[in-house]
Amino acid sequence: MSTVQKVTLRTLNQMKDKSEKIVWVVLYDWPTAVLADQAGVDMILVGDSVAMTMLGLPNTLPITMDVMLHHAEAVTRGAKRAFIVGDMPFMSYQASIDEAVVNAGEFMRIGCDAIKLEGGATYAPTVEAIVRAGIPVIGHLGLTPQSASMLGGYRMQGRDAASAKKILDDALALEEAGAFGVLLENVTSETANLVASKTRFLTFSIGGGPDTDGQLLLSHDILGFTMGLKPRFAKTYGNIAEQVRHVFEEYRRDVKERKYPSEEYLAHMREGEYEKLIKETT
Ligand code: KIV
Repeated sequence: MSTVQKVTLRTLNQMKDKSEKIVWVVLYDWPTAVLADQAGVDMILVGDSVAMTMLGLPNTLPITMDVMLHHAEAVTRGAKRAFIVGDMPFMSYQASIDEAVVNAGEFMRIGCDAIKLEGGATYAPTVEAIVRAGIPVIGHLGLTPQSASMLGGYRMQGRDAASAKKILDDALALEEAGAFGVLLENVTSETANLVASKTRFLTFSIGGGPDTDGQLLLSHDILGFTMGLKPRFAKTYGNIAEQVRHVFEEYRRDVKERKYPSEEYLAHMREGEYEKLIKETT
């Protein structure tokens, strides 16, 4: 039996030192975790985007710790190599630092390797407290969906010098607070480049261009398993939605046309038992 070389923070930092790009994907369940792990993906985020991709909700705000832990647990059972990050849902860390530490601990208890939370300098004391508890933290800046209302919607961030500078200052505050890295979502590539060049910790981008240490995309976007909603920056590598619809159509047709179940899918009684049964029941 081959042993799996688990990706750790040390591995990720070694990859940065070697300028090897880090591959990170968002997923939420056991089978995709098994398959992404087999494919050699380095990191997995169990994201609160589960709200939209899996549960058909309009945004991430209704997602609770219970829902996140339910999905994260399935992912930790599936992925044995990848570094797994649990996404702190809305109101699991905003109200108090103590609550944030306890909730971050819940992700670690079920086998995650780190947690992610949205926000910059404002959350530096929270990040510090979680890191002090021995839990690796990655920050999330730019378009932060949990505060989309404050941002005026799901808009690209870092379009002007002042907003790019604010993102850099937030990233520096997270680094200072002990975060191991930052994820930049839907920011201009100039902003991502600035953060990557002015910080020393790990930088990741989802829709922020090529200059960060790693890239993140949602599995539903790369698989083509969305119901027509796809962000501008996501590259699609498959058409799973079309394949799934096709399979359901074929199954439906087979049943309607009495082609399924055919002989090969039937189970029969032992020899002579059927005749015995008919005699006993007539
Ligand atoms: O929940 C999620 O998938 C995320 C990404 C959009 C960054 O936080």
